[in-house]
Amino acid sequence: MQVGSKNYRTIEASKDQSYVKIIDQTYLPFKLKIVHLKTLDEVIKAIINMQVRGAPLIGVTAAYGFAILMNFDSSNNALRKCKKDLVNARPTAVNLSWAVNQIYDALIKCPLRERVELSWELANNLANEDVEKNISIGLHGYNLFKAYNKKTINILTHCNAGWLATVDHGTALSPIFKLFDEGFDVHVWVDETRPRNQGLSLTAWELSQYKIRHTVVTDNAGGLLMKEGLVDFVIVGADRIALDGQVCNKIGTYLKAVVAKENNIPFYVAAPSSTIDINFSGETRNFEIECRDPSEIMTMKGEDKLGNIIEISLGSSPAYNPAFDVTPPIYVSKFICEKGVFDTDKIRDIVDL
Ligand code: MRU
Repeated sequence: MQVGSKNYRTIEASKDQSYVKIIDQTYLPFKLKIVHLKTLDEVIKAIINMQVRGAPLIGVTAAYGFAILMNFDSSNNALRKCKKDLVNARPTAVNLSWAVNQIYDALIKCPLRERVELSWELANNLANEDVEKNISIGLHGYNLFKAYNKKTINILTHCNAGWLATVDHGTALSPIFKLFDEGFDVHVWVDETRPRNQGLSLTAWELSQYKIRHTVVTDNAGGLLMKEGLVDFVIVGADRIALDGQVCNKIGTYLKAVVAKENNIPFYVAAPSSTIDINFSGETRNFEIECRDPSEIMTMKGEDKLGNIIEISLGSSPAYNPAFDVTPPIYVSKFICEKGVFDTDKIRDIVDL
């Protein structure tokens, strides 16, 4: 994506394949800061601390984690430990284990001397494939939404499923970028998405860069907006989709989906097929919901008048911070993925099961 006059991806390998460059998302929207990750440890910390976040992006970052490690140690022991540590970095998004398992399986079968080259090739391929999939999601979504015959299309989104959550283009925002590129007048209601404010800090920033009209609203405003007819459709991303169509996504997604149905407003989920958990039909076990540090609720980050990024305390009460919730398929109108637009009972078809 273009920021100013420069094109960026959220993650890129250095030319000599010794490290990766990431956009450190903890500095946005205040600073566009590029950070170099040079060790596996730094990669794992970047995922845990959410310098990189969003289901597809953490998968690709993990793939580069293997590649960086192979430069130092390509032994089987190192591979096994790397797999375990990466999968444990964040538990909910299935894209992480999806990427980790496929890179591990390929490398463990490969002769030691070829592992460095193969690991960088696989990680670069995964990154490029992510971009291609997101462009397709944008196109399929655009074909669905271009039928809206309105002066302005009002869209509500939750969290950040834009290009910052992927390598480029995004999932839920990809059709919105495409509608805008094709000349549609779009306006996006951006849920602030407490506690980490991915909507306010990341989605709103992306839309500003793209010059798409948008308005940030509190997470509690969606019900009123929908009831007053100010939302044409809701679109969100996903961290894990069960084969029965349940969608695990950022906390607060479920509330929006229920209110959308109550008001006959379509609720779309846009995600690559790698977000479908092929081992999870929905009945067998519960989704693993990441519970993050309560301090994320009890603090707020901002910029002071001198341009320093500061954190303020909001008190010392106990807080509970589940980061994701689960939306049952009855609230989802359609799934948009790189293969097309699917009904909620057709998830198995997407992954050819
Ligand atoms: O905790 P985050 O910021 O990683 O959560 C991100 C989301 O919930 C996104 O909606 C999801 O990962 C889809 S990103 C294309």
